Amino acid sequence: MKKYIVLMVAVAAVGAFAAMAALQKPAAVFAPSQAAHTAAAASQTGETVPNIPKDKKALVVYFSYSGNTRIIAEQIRQSVDGDIVELQPLTPYSADYDTVVKQGKQEIESGFKPPLKAKVESLAAYDVIFVGTPIWWYTIAPPVASFLAESDLAGKTIIPFCTHGGYGPGHNLEDIKKLAPKSRVLNELVLNGSKTYAQKDILAWLSKVGFGE
Ligand SMILES: Cc1cc2nc3c(=O)[nH]c(=O)nc-3n(C[C@H](O)[C@H](O)[C@H](O)COP(=O)(O)O)c2cc1C
Repeated sequence: MKKYIVLMVAVAAVGAFAAMAALQKPAAVFAPSQAAHTAAAASQTGETVPNIPKDKKALVVYFSYSGNTRIIAEQIRQSVDGDIVELQPLTPYSADYDTVVKQGKQEIESGFKPPLKAKVESLAAYDVIFVGTPIWWYTIAPPVASFLAESDLAGKTIIPFCTHGGYGPGHNLEDIKKLAPKSRVLNELVLNGSKTYAQKDILAWLSKVGFGE
């Protein structure tokens, strides 16, 4: 009986691990060449401006499908003592990961920008906007594209952050810049969504972009 229970626990643990791993990575769907990776990484050029006064009012705007980006968004909000808004598409994505991987590909390839449940109001009140996204097919997730396209971000400082499943940030920074041509877009915080980050790591990055103590 004892052996049976141990076996059941082991089976459950392996199952849970497999489910978690599936959430982090779009399985075998992504198989880019190393050269493509290197090129994508090299093209990430953001501007580092180390002088954003700490007293500037900050808003954290993010989308998160499986929760990784939400955790980072919350950590940033705590560190900058700002406000936070989660972007949600009017029609929620399926709970089935593979369905979303396929749908995300179609939406990105066609440039689809899903209507959002709510428009982000009062942007005028903020000087700095942190924009967070999971990497979907090497770029920003469509709800983030919707937000950037429909918002008046002229004159704002945008500080992007993203989480990915192991394939890096792709060309998301360039795409953010294209959708926010009148904003100043600073260096991006790029994180692996399957790892956890201490608050001090977030603070170190914030300090690099000018939000430090
Ligand atoms: C539709 C879709 C596409 C994805 N494309 C990529 C990708 O191109 N590169 C990558 O490294 N990870 C990719 N991932 C994995 C996510 O970027 C990663 O798990 C991220 O941390 C998820 O953030 P979230 O939990 O906030 O949604 C993709 C995930 C989904 C659902």
